Amino acid sequence: MITYVDATAKARRTAGVIPLHGSEGFEGMRRAGTLTARALDEITPFVEAGVPTSTIDRVAYEFARDHGAVPATIFYKGYRHSVCTSINHVVCHGIPDERPLREGDIVNVDLTLVLDGWHGDSSRMYPVGEISRKAERLIEVTYAGLEAGIAAARPGNTTGDIGAAIQAVAEAERMSVVRDFVGHGLGRLFHDEPNILHFGTPGSGAELKPGMIFTIEPMINLGRPHVKILSDGWTAVTRDRTLSAQCEHSIGITETGCEIFTLSPAGLFNPLASRSA
Ligand code: MF3
Ligand code: CO
Ligand code: CO
Repeated sequence: MITYVDATAKARRTAGVIPLHGSEGFEGMRRAGTLTARALDEITPFVEAGVPTSTIDRVAYEFARDHGAVPATIFYKGYRHSVCTSINHVVCHGIPDERPLREGDIVNVDLTLVLDGWHGDSSRMYPVGEISRKAERLIEVTYAGLEAGIAAARPGNTTGDIGAAIQAVAEAERMSVVRDFVGHGLGRLFHDEPNILHFGTPGSGAELKPGMIFTIEPMINLGRPHVKILSDGWTAVTRDRTLSAQCEHSIGITETGCEIFTLSPAGLFNPLASRSA
């Protein structure tokens, strides 16, 4: 069973209870989301051949520090970094390290900044130099999937409508949706109800109501959907080692549709679109 409560009355995650936020939550998320987007804009020139992902991690950390924010992932369940950097066949939760990026890599950078207690969570794909046509197509389809999910995010629809919309986009291109990781409610909490599956049946799941705040963050694979976790306990990779891509926005359901909190002020959210512009 699903119930809905005023977000201000709920400090902890409770299974099956979806918080509904008011204008204070939307204002807080707008500020945290915009700052996260600005940080992701800022790292764009650093995602280059020869640069290690630890540099990206440092740039994100310093941006947060200089703007009164804290990366939510530092000390989160033992994670020690400001961002996740997921390269090529890494699906998500890649750990920044000293290995230099190489021409042709595709990199997802996922950042959550906490500003005044509110969590802005977003990720984007960054191409390193010239990338293959199939990598480009994967990124295009992943962004189209997120867009389709966002278009389905409105009152009266359900969480399943979002997942079904994303799945349809991916599978029409004979790509697959990762099942093992989902979008999530957030606000004063990093991970809250509801879960947002990126696949599913129209009309299933929780009904969307104004005031719900959550992420949509589809992971799409060129091959099969299955993942495995490496021995570091974090890095998720495709079992068949095919390329994987992801992008993520934090959104809030409004009376008429949704508001995206993590839009890029510089228009850099979609790297391929901003490249050819
Ligand atoms: N930002 C990720 C998300 O979209 C969570 C990363 S948790 C970490 O939910 F510990 F791996 F960083
Ligand atoms: Co994220
Ligand atoms: Co997230």
